[in-house]
Amino acid sequence: MSRLYFPKDFIWGSATAAYQIEGAYQEDGKGESIWDRFSHTPGKVANGDTGDVACDHYHRYKEDVELMKEIGLDSYRFSISWPRILPKGKGEINQQGLDFYRGLINELLKAGIKPVVTLYHWDLPQALQEEGGWANREIVKHFVNYAEILFNEFGDVVSQWITHNEPFVVAFNGHGSGDHAPGIKDQQVALQVAHNLLLSHGLAVKKFRELKLDNEIGITLNLISSYPISDNVEDNKAAKRMEDYINGWFLEPLFKGRYPERIVEFYGEKFNNLDIREDDMGLIKEEIDFLGINYYSRSLVRYNKDSKFLGIEGVKPQDSQYTAMDWEIYPKGLYDLLIKLNQEYTQKPLYITENGAAFDDKISEGGGVHDQDRIDYLKAHFQSAYKAIQEGVALKGYYVWSLMDNFEWAYGYSKRFGITYIDYENNQRRILKDSAYWYKNIIVNNSLEV
Ligand code: FCB
Repeated sequence: MSRLYFPKDFIWGSATAAYQIEGAYQEDGKGESIWDRFSHTPGKVANGDTGDVACDHYHRYKEDVELMKEIGLDSYRFSISWPRILPKGKGEINQQGLDFYRGLINELLKAGIKPVVTLYHWDLPQALQEEGGWANREIVKHFVNYAEILFNEFGDVVSQWITHNEPFVVAFNGHGSGDHAPGIKDQQVALQVAHNLLLSHGLAVKKFRELKLDNEIGITLNLISSYPISDNVEDNKAAKRMEDYINGWFLEPLFKGRYPERIVEFYGEKFNNLDIREDDMGLIKEEIDFLGINYYSRSLVRYNKDSKFLGIEGVKPQDSQYTAMDWEIYPKGLYDLLIKLNQEYTQKPLYITENGAAFDDKISEGGGVHDQDRIDYLKAHFQSAYKAIQEGVALKGYYVWSLMDNFEWAYGYSKRFGITYIDYENNQRRILKDSAYWYKNIIVNNSLEV
């Protein structure tokens, strides 16, 4: 046995998102969000689940901060619900919405837990969707206005801000495949949404700088590592295209001020039809303080000349292990990703803003939840992170997804990602899983036993 010690100031955290945990969907002046609308539309979410009650975190946030204290978290990443602050997305501010987050932040600060806020984790006010949502360029202005309200309100107590969570998923799941709210299926729209999201990010960062706030701002991307099935040149190129398609579409504008050429060619006319104005790419490139990374799995591909999707065919290795999401467990992908980001895109501080796994957890007869598979998953990924740090990557923190089981978007409550079990049948009772106690031990020792 040996111990891997993490850097002295390493931040150990956990993450959630407003719609996934809060509930109280119509309380205290909150407006409707696109996820309220989507989950209430029959057939959109597994089992007809909605976020109406979720983990009831809105009423139980004090108890949840107690859980965080028990686990010993250094930091907690959560998102703010735009329609709680601005029920119509713009115009009148809902004071009760601000009060809720003020209460949560105070509780965190009292507990010595650093709050990290995501401005947009997918719950757009429905009223803005009626005006075209992210597809309408006007939204950029509304997003910056919303961000400014929060910067002014909490700029002195929130030391790190994340503009967007996974713009790829917002654009392509929300507007391409349509399996997320608002459920639009139009590739052209998805591309415009991606651009408008990036632009809104850049302008929010700019606003943040103008306010001269003495803290940090960044963005969180869902990133993969992609591998070829063989060392053949065509398979290698296909793997690279896959990375450009998911990672590059956001990394290149953010760090290089352009969209990746090979993928631009692939989109062809759809790309040429986009409304991209002269200064946009410069604005998107506005300097950030850190990059947030959500890493869950890798992609394995082979070249297939008949595939209309960039000549790429996905491969599912039989001898691998998979989580309950059917995502391949591939910890080395995290290491490779961190090294690549560092070499090809940025030397800025990096944070793993999400990593974790869903498994079919059950309450044991003794009352505990023995999630050894989640412990194994996290342990292997922490080791990858450690290795990257040893090799000079400026990885500053790690947020486990998620603090508690929650509403997993189109999968509803069927997938459990938490290190805390939520007993939905018994009044949302919370039970710390074995993984939470295991994590507590790592945090206390700032090290991992291997
Ligand atoms: C990410 C989302 C997060 C959660 C995890 C499992 O894509 O950011 O809200 O659903 O996946």
